[in-house]
This record gives sequence, C-alpha cells and structure tokens, in this order.
Amino acid sequence: MTAITTAQNKLRFMAEELAELDQKGLRVHIRTIESPQGAWLQVDGKRVLNLASNNYLGLANHPHLVEAAKDAMDRLGVGPAAVRTIAGTMSIHVEAEARLAQFKGAEAVILLQSGFTANQAALGAVLGKEDAIFSDGLNHASIIDGARLSRAKIIVYPHNDVAGLVELLERETEYRRRLIVTDGVFSMDGDIAPLPALADVAERYGCLLMVDDAHGEGVLGRGGRGIVDHFGLHGRVDIEVGTLSKAFGVVGGFIAGPKLLVDYVRTRARPNLFSSALTVPDTAACLASVDLMEASTALVDRLWANGRFFQAEMRRLGFDLGKTVTPITPVMLGEAPLAKEFARQLYERGVFAVAIGFPTVALGQARIRVMLSAAHTDDDLHYGLEQFAAVGRSLGVIQ
Ligand SMILES: Cc1ncc(COP(=O)(O)O)c(C=O)c1O
Repeated sequence: MTAITTAQNKLRFMAEELAELDQKGLRVHIRTIESPQGAWLQVDGKRVLNLASNNYLGLANHPHLVEAAKDAMDRLGVGPAAVRTIAGTMSIHVEAEARLAQFKGAEAVILLQSGFTANQAALGAVLGKEDAIFSDGLNHASIIDGARLSRAKIIVYPHNDVAGLVELLERETEYRRRLIVTDGVFSMDGDIAPLPALADVAERYGCLLMVDDAHGEGVLGRGGRGIVDHFGLHGRVDIEVGTLSKAFGVVGGFIAGPKLLVDYVRTRARPNLFSSALTVPDTAACLASVDLMEASTALVDRLWANGRFFQAEMRRLGFDLGKTVTPITPVMLGEAPLAKEFARQLYERGVFAVAIGFPTVALGQARIRVMLSAAHTDDDLHYGLEQFAAVGRSLGVIQ
C-alpha cells in the first residue's frame, strides 16, 4: 500500500461524515464577501443588502478606523512579534487597555486575541477542578469551551431562569468556588440576561458573577457601554468579557473588572501566557472605535431607531420575532429546510440574511437572523422589508 492510500484510508471517516452532513443539509457553506463590510456587500459576485453581520455601528470600514490603523502601522509596524508576557508588551496595547477600562467604567482591562479566547482566559484562570460553574442553558460556545477547559464542574441552569438557578445553588454547595456565567445579550434570540437579579443571587450565595457582553457592547448602556452600564451594576459584576469584533468593528477580545482580577488573569490565563498579542492596526482601530463611541451616541441611537422601525414593520407584516428586546431580529420559521429556502430566496432577491438551525438553535426553532446596523439607511430597511414580505408570502409564512 502506498503512503498516499494509507493516508486516504486514515482520513476516510472525514469524507463519510462530511457526506452525511451534505445529505442532511447540515454542511457549512461559507459565502465569499468581495467588498468591505457595510450596509451593502458584494457576495459571490452579487450586490446584496447586508442583514447578516455583527457590524452594529457600521465601524468595520469606517474612515476613522482605517486611518488610525494606517497611521499606527507607519509608526509601529504590523505585528507584535511576541507573547506579551515573554518579550514585552507594546505601548499601544497598554493604551488600549486603559481606554477600554475608562469606557467600560471598570478598574482595569486585559486585551486578548478574541472574545472566544477571552472567555477561555477568564474561566480557565479563575476556576479549577474543585470549583463549579453555573452556566445559562443558552450560553455561547466559547463560554462552554472555557468552562470545559477550566475542569470545574459545569452545572447548566434553565435559560434566564433565576429561580431555577437558585434551586441549583441550594443543592450544589460542595465546591471551593462557585461562579455564575451568562451571555449579556443572547445572540440567537436578542433577549437579555436578568443581570440585576443574577447580581443579587451571586451576592446572596457568595458566588462570582461573569457576563459575556459580546452583543451588548456598542448596543446597550450609555453610548454603547454595555450591559453592566445598562443596568447600573458597576462594581457588582466580577468579570466582564468583551469582544472587539462586533460593534467595535475590528477583532480581539478583552476582560474588564477589578484591577486585582485583571492582574490575576494576566499571570494565570493561558491565552495571555502562550499566544501573541493583537496586531498594531487592530489595536489602533479599536482605539479609534472608542474615540467615536465616546464622542457621540449618534451611531448607537441610529442602530436602535433602525431596530425599532424594522421590527415594528416586520410584526405588522405578520412575522414572529420571538422574544427579542434588542436590534437582533430573529424571524422564527420553525423547520430548518423552510429557513434555508427562505434565505435562498432572499439572496436571489438581493438580501443577504442567514438561516440558523439545529444545533445552533433547538430543533424546530430554525430562523433567519436579521442583524441590523447603524449603517442601514431608511431606503435599505424598506428594501429589506419588501423582500421579506415577498418571500414570506410566496412561502406561506405570512398572509
Ligand atoms: C456571546 C459571544 N461571545 C463570544 C463570541 C466570540 O467573539 P469573537 O468573535 O471575538 O471571538 C461571540 C461571537 O460570536 C459571541 O456571540
């Protein structure tokens, strides 16, 4: 047997599994975007209205960010060329941490490579196998993976069910440390965690409290300062995880909290100890996002106005938008094939919106998730609504 056939035999299980996914319509197909991010995109050669990305404030291609990135590259180059704890940190990272801490109203911030690694960093640093993590049933995959990496016992409480959480806290007591963790805004439904009640419970039961504010930053709170600001809970949430890849329009993640926590994470979190820092242009662009958000609430206001208008019109047309209370707009359709066909017809009509089915959401709860942005004009929203109405009628979803 040649070396090539042996390798093919060893990898055969992959071909079989991919074929099975193809057959079930569950294989991931990724479209190619040939333009900058914005209200309209060039996708696989076609100009389409963008209702798919997390570019909440339209900053991903904002001139201020692009200029800041170019200018920083002229001064500081591109790559950090090192893990920060080994070969030193760059001044721009230190500056970004200070600005983000100020923006979030937190004592300190540590920058990380992504929101995904920030969750791993926080959970992995703070907890070990003697501990327990009480995790909302709909938490993001990066929280679940971070929880697994920490080796703590994972106890899942029913989604947003504070009484259910309390029952579990009463029962599950034999741990060194206990931590409650929740998404702030749930990305598939657009509902919000009951953070004030969770803060009360965390204090009553002596638990640490952590929130992943990936979809709250730039959206909730004064000028987009996030869920802790929205509820006025400064000082009552121990660990705030953030991402720079959504409203901030760039890439990267961070952890905000008391200086002691951030110092601890710096010396304990493996993504900080064993992985290089953000690039110079990314970091500079994030600083430029903070500039814009601090200067004016106009973009956040526009995002909410767009959300309110689009959702009111969609409900008037007869669509079920689930339990959203944020600009995230799930259009509930039920079965996955219907959602896929809906997305396909929208695309034919020049609208890029993504169908989401099992396992990302529960079976029978497939949907199109519409992501609104401050970048959308009134005309854009009217265009999107017309196409939703036409496809909804053609597929019998609305009258
Ligand atoms: C709730 C939540 N947390 C974390 C992440 C990961 O963020 P990043 O893309 O910065 O890794 C996401 C991204 O989808 C998210 O929705």
